[in-house]
Amino acid sequence: MEKSAQPIGIFDSGIGGTSIWREIHSLLPNEDTIYLADSKNAPYGQRPKDEIIELSFKNTDYLLEQGAKLIVVACNTATTNAINELRAQYNVPFIGIEPAIKPAAINTKTGAIGILATKGTLSSALFNKAVSGLKNVKVIEQVGYNLVTLIEEGHIDSDEMLELLLQYLKPMVQANIDYLVLGCSHYPYLIPQIKKILPENVTIIDSGEAVARQTQAILQQNGLLNTVPRQSSQVFYTNYKPEVLQSFVKGFPVAEKDF
Ligand code: DGL
Repeated sequence: MEKSAQPIGIFDSGIGGTSIWREIHSLLPNEDTIYLADSKNAPYGQRPKDEIIELSFKNTDYLLEQGAKLIVVACNTATTNAINELRAQYNVPFIGIEPAIKPAAINTKTGAIGILATKGTLSSALFNKAVSGLKNVKVIEQVGYNLVTLIEEGHIDSDEMLELLLQYLKPMVQANIDYLVLGCSHYPYLIPQIKKILPENVTIIDSGEAVARQTQAILQQNGLLNTVPRQSSQVFYTNYKPEVLQSFVKGFPVAEKDF
């Protein structure tokens, strides 16, 4: 089999990375993909760095066994804590996802931006290096405690979710932010709820599209792009509650696996 015909492997701690998969599939419809939702071990955001690295290695091993030609780490927490270790360990290209604070910092008019992410991302050295490089911008950081757990349990539209979001976003509104950066791949699914809370002048940004473009560029650079127009295969594996993952990727096959 031509290497370019092999699938792209994508993993996240759960269903959140399907927001990234969607962008990849829409930009690169010829590519086969295999998506791993490690929902049994979610949330990653409360775990120490060494555990996040170990879980990222486990997911990568499984995807490579399935023939992945490139790995997309569709998880900010795994990227900011484990991408250097992954690149050092494996001889395959990795694409990571990081909170898009740069475009927010460049475009803010009020001089204040908000970032909602997991504890693991906000405490990572990679994220803190990026924030310390910003000049004249007030960055309001908030850990999204329990948001991932509620999403993984299928409770996006609950009162509890709305209350938590209200609690997390209110200080940002009071600080007059005009950009909210979603620093977790689960959070794009909360945009309708977030919009109910934020004033209309606040722009919400996530990194999904940028990750898809970067995936395309790296495939191209490595001669791995699948340019043959074809009916591609999109496969989804999870190790917990397949019905939740299925509800995010309606019409695509979801299988429960032990990985
Ligand atoms: N979706 C993940 C992220 O982008 C991880 C959330 C979690 O498991 O805590 O950070």
